[in-house]
Amino acid sequence: MKIIAFGGSSSKQSINKKLATYAAGLFENADVEILDLNDFELPLFSVDKEAEIGKPELATKFLEKLDQADILVISLAEHNAGFSVAFKNIYDWASRTDKLVFREKPMLLLATSPGRGGGKNVIEAAKISLPKYGGNIKDTFSLPSFNENFDSEKNVISNPEFDNRLKQIIRNFATN
Ligand SMILES: Cc1cc2nc3c(=O)[nH]c(=O)nc-3n(C[C@H](O)[C@H](O)[C@H](O)COP(=O)(O)O)c2cc1C
Repeated sequence: MKIIAFGGSSSKQSINKKLATYAAGLFENADVEILDLNDFELPLFSVDKEAEIGKPELATKFLEKLDQADILVISLAEHNAGFSVAFKNIYDWASRTDKLVFREKPMLLLATSPGRGGGKNVIEAAKISLPKYGGNIKDTFSLPSFNENFDSEKNVISNPEFDNRLKQIIRNFATN
């Protein structure tokens, strides 16, 4: 079983990449590949830029990576209650190559932030947007107050309540 995971952020120290990596590692017998959105950086999408450069190879490469997955684990950064520019940009470019960006692959959708909201707004935004573009969101999990609830040295959720909740979600995910 192949899992493709990534944080919906281009921050080098992305807390969402850390959460996606941790969550993907909890699946048993899985081959996990972590993507970095910095490897899919493209000019800001516009129809004018599209007329100029056409369908960029990086957008096709991104879609090919998602094609390889049996399960997608995506943890979205929340910027101003919505998607980060890095995520939205590759999403927009990819959608112009193939509307079913997320390939209908079973998806565990996560979010975290340093604040108490834990990225709940971006999860709601994703629930509206992604299913129209091949997003098959099976479950969601938000980790609030990242710095208090995640141990960045051990790279694990340090709060047992949240950790158990995520592990339960992943157990259910595997059996459904
Ligand atoms: C422009 C900007 C807007 C932000 N807006 C929100 C927000 O609406 N809600 C929130 O919880 N955090 C917000 N944050 C804080 C991010 O959650 C925080 O920077 C987090 O580290 C982003 O995830 P990442 O580390 O994976 O990039 C914002 C940060 C920036 C730079």
